[in-house]
Amino acid sequence: MNIVLLGAPGSGKGTQASMISERYGLVHISTGDIFRENIKNGTEIGLLAKSYIDAGKLVPDEVTCEIVRQRLAKDDCKKGYLLDGFPRNTYQADQLDGFSKVDLCININIDHALLMNRLCGRRVCRDCGESYHVDTLNGATTCKKCGGELYQRRDDNPETVASRLAVYNEQTAPLIDYYTKKGVIFHCTGTEAPASVLFATVAAELDKYLK
Ligand code: AP5
Repeated sequence: MNIVLLGAPGSGKGTQASMISERYGLVHISTGDIFRENIKNGTEIGLLAKSYIDAGKLVPDEVTCEIVRQRLAKDDCKKGYLLDGFPRNTYQADQLDGFSKVDLCININIDHALLMNRLCGRRVCRDCGESYHVDTLNGATTCKKCGGELYQRRDDNPETVASRLAVYNEQTAPLIDYYTKKGVIFHCTGTEAPASVLFATVAAELDKYLK
């Protein structure tokens, strides 16, 4: 089954994707993670992506679509995949339709007033990628799961978050309509539910297809 996760920055796409991937064995592909890995390794793609990510803008479509096309062609995607952060505009969605078929789009609705605090307070483990909020860390600087160092993403600052939200509203939100018209959308809400409760809702839907 091929799944697209849609939602504003900080709505919980990555958190849900990890849980879905673990339960159903689908490959989790996050374009944001791919870009951050490239930045860390100093690749050509990383050098290009960095300026866009730091400004809260989208990395150019041609580059992003080609990365996803090549990734989906790998053997581990044959049984299905979970795309987190792609597509992000109708051009990317059209391109995706050209090289794959989306079976389900999970749209996480959220009150945007929550997002600035969620993102600016987020700390992520450098080693395992687990994320936390400063409000619940009690000053801890290492990951409870693996002991790795916690860091703040460069794009989790008020100015860049504001830009990411504006880009979402202008370019990504229209995809709700796009996938509604295709009849493949499932809506859920991440506003009040803790991640595990939201996952129970998502899993109840996925069990219809994947059990
Ligand atoms: P990307 O890495 O995809 O970032 P994003 O979409 O802004 O989303 P986030 O990773 O910040 O949030 P999320 O929705 O995954 O939430 P999370 O689960 O972490 O993209 C970064 C940049 O890369 C883009 O700005 C762009 O420049 C570039 N890029 C990426 N894809 C691209 C594309 N297709 N085209 C062009 N450019 C692209 O949760 C957030 C926090 O909330 C965490 O601390 C978490 O613990 C917490 N949380 C999660 N769920 C809950 C809950 N239910 N209740 C309470 N807290 C929760």
